[in-house]
Amino acid sequence: MNDSTIHELISSEAIQQRVNELGKEISMDFIDKKYPTLISVLKGAFLFSADLFRAFTTPFRLEFIHASSYESGTRSSGKVSLTVPPDIKGKNLLIVDGIIDTGLTIHSIIQSITPPDPATLSVYTLLDKPARRKHPVTVNYSGFTIPDTFVVGYGCDYNEQYRHLPFIATLQ
Ligand code: IMP
Ligand code: MG
Repeated sequence: MNDSTIHELISSEAIQQRVNELGKEISMDFIDKKYPTLISVLKGAFLFSADLFRAFTTPFRLEFIHASSYESGTRSSGKVSLTVPPDIKGKNLLIVDGIIDTGLTIHSIIQSITPPDPATLSVYTLLDKPARRKHPVTVNYSGFTIPDTFVVGYGCDYNEQYRHLPFIATLQ
């Protein structure tokens, strides 16, 4: 696939505005919580979580989970491999993902770190595709709800390409 198949869906300005709003809202939600910790789901959430982290108005800790569910292209392998940080016990966790599609990745992450380990656990995603859901997931905040279409940019890839785009685009 080449660049001629890309169509901007969400502009860089719209993303930044929404991320700043979310940063303020989340900061207020966690203001009384002990050890609030953002867990960024790599690789797709790396830009979103970096911008969100800078939009917080109160202090947060930072961890990373490496998750991969897509073997290649737009097809999921149906299996998720996870690298979970060891030191998350007793913390108030915000799992931050780039896209929730079938819900398999987030479902697997939640299974791997369910209470009583974290004090609280909430899920945040920049993009939500509810029409594609196969696994039950409670999404506490989403930046944008998008239709059942494959997107790239702002951290999201197609075969490791297009992550650098500052906007979200459809790829057809
Ligand atoms: P799920 O496990 O089906 O919810 O898929 C979640 C992961 O699949 C996301 O974190 C992305 O890495 C990837 N993914 C799902 N939809 C898209 C898309 O439209 N573009 C790029 N990656 C996607
Ligand atoms: Mg991918």
